[in-house]
Amino acid sequence: MNKITATCVIRNAKQLVTLHTPGHIGPRGGKAMSELGIIEKGAIAFSGSRIVAVGETNKLLKSISITRKTKMIDATNRVITPGLIDCHSHPVFAGGRAHEFEMRISGKSYLEIAEAGGGIKATVKATQKASPKRLFNNGKKVLDEMFSWGVTTVEGKSGYGLTLKDEIKMLKVLNKLNHEHDIDIVTTFLGAHEIPEEYKNKPDEYVALVCNRMIPAVVADNLAEFCDVFCEKGVFSPKQTRIILQTAQAFGLKLKIHADQFHSTGGAELAAEFRAVSADHLDCVGDEGIHLIRKAGVVPVLLPGSIFILGAKQKAPARKMIDYGLPVALGTDFNPGSSPIHSLPITMSLACIEFKMTPAEALCAATLNAAYAIDRGDKIGCLSPGKMADIVIWDVQDYREITYWFGKNLVYSVFKNGHEIKP
Ligand code: NIG
Ligand code: FE
Repeated sequence: MNKITATCVIRNAKQLVTLHTPGHIGPRGGKAMSELGIIEKGAIAFSGSRIVAVGETNKLLKSISITRKTKMIDATNRVITPGLIDCHSHPVFAGGRAHEFEMRISGKSYLEIAEAGGGIKATVKATQKASPKRLFNNGKKVLDEMFSWGVTTVEGKSGYGLTLKDEIKMLKVLNKLNHEHDIDIVTTFLGAHEIPEEYKNKPDEYVALVCNRMIPAVVADNLAEFCDVFCEKGVFSPKQTRIILQTAQAFGLKLKIHADQFHSTGGAELAAEFRAVSADHLDCVGDEGIHLIRKAGVVPVLLPGSIFILGAKQKAPARKMIDYGLPVALGTDFNPGSSPIHSLPITMSLACIEFKMTPAEALCAATLNAAYAIDRGDKIGCLSPGKMADIVIWDVQDYREITYWFGKNLVYSVFKNGHEIKP
């Protein structure tokens, strides 16, 4: 029998957390979120950018062909997991909103600040003024930081441009970052992130601009894979959201929704109706919404960072969702307002604390289920032959330490497409 030649083998890991168990395909819902497919004294081999073998070290070494060119790495007393996937972020913008952070501490709410011209609108002003080069440099710093915490793929949204020209500018920056940075970026058009000041009294005209000018232009230049809408009281109504989603779907974009973040507005129901790939936030979702997204196979993306930063009283019913069998995913929601948190491991710790998710569930939510939330479940998110060699080696002996040592960066090494990159 011809053995497969490996270009790299990482062996002797105290725990190799594969997120793969025989016979299981698809995202993991309910109890299956805790089945991490851990191999003690595990090894993983890859050939170029693809994983070719996974197993117990002694067995794996017998099953593959090792040449003088094979890079051998020892992971004794370390843990290996799939590269983390941040499935919801807003990484490109200009300026900051530290003064709003202070205003919120003094008692103003996120929506009150937004209504007074701050919030997303403030970042839009700064982003419109910024050159593509400045936005690129800002975005690169954000991605460097995310990568240093073990993230190998990130979903990134536009949404701080809000004019045809500025939305395209943001998407081009995201695409350039995707080309030039080690992290893979899955790009989302979020022209419907806020109603621009000049359309305050005629929001339907802005919806028409998004549908008639922006979506066609985004698709013509192949600048985004997904379309997202902030469906919320005072932002886009369910009716307006439906019009935008219908157009985006007709143009072949996949769908996401910022759903039920501050009010139960029917966002989850819409996500189910359109069979969106994910419904995100869901802090105020009701039982009917939970039932419908499960039926429609929509992945619920929960964002504990924004709950923590905004001190929100109503949190997504994560336990209820998991106990109901849903495959919960986690993202940082990194943005300059509601979640200035770069770190996905910190977000995972927050999910344990805020949502009572277990460390195993949090890890599954930030790897395998996050891959399905961006429609990449066939390529990344677990460690099994055929998947991309996106891997993190952690300086811990038990995967639970990743969420336990709050705020400590425990990444030892990151492999992206089979290449080792020490952050
Ligand atoms: O996901 N909710 C809408 N959008 C972002 C916040 C963006 C901002 O405040 O700049 C979010 O929380
Ligand atoms: Fe968001």
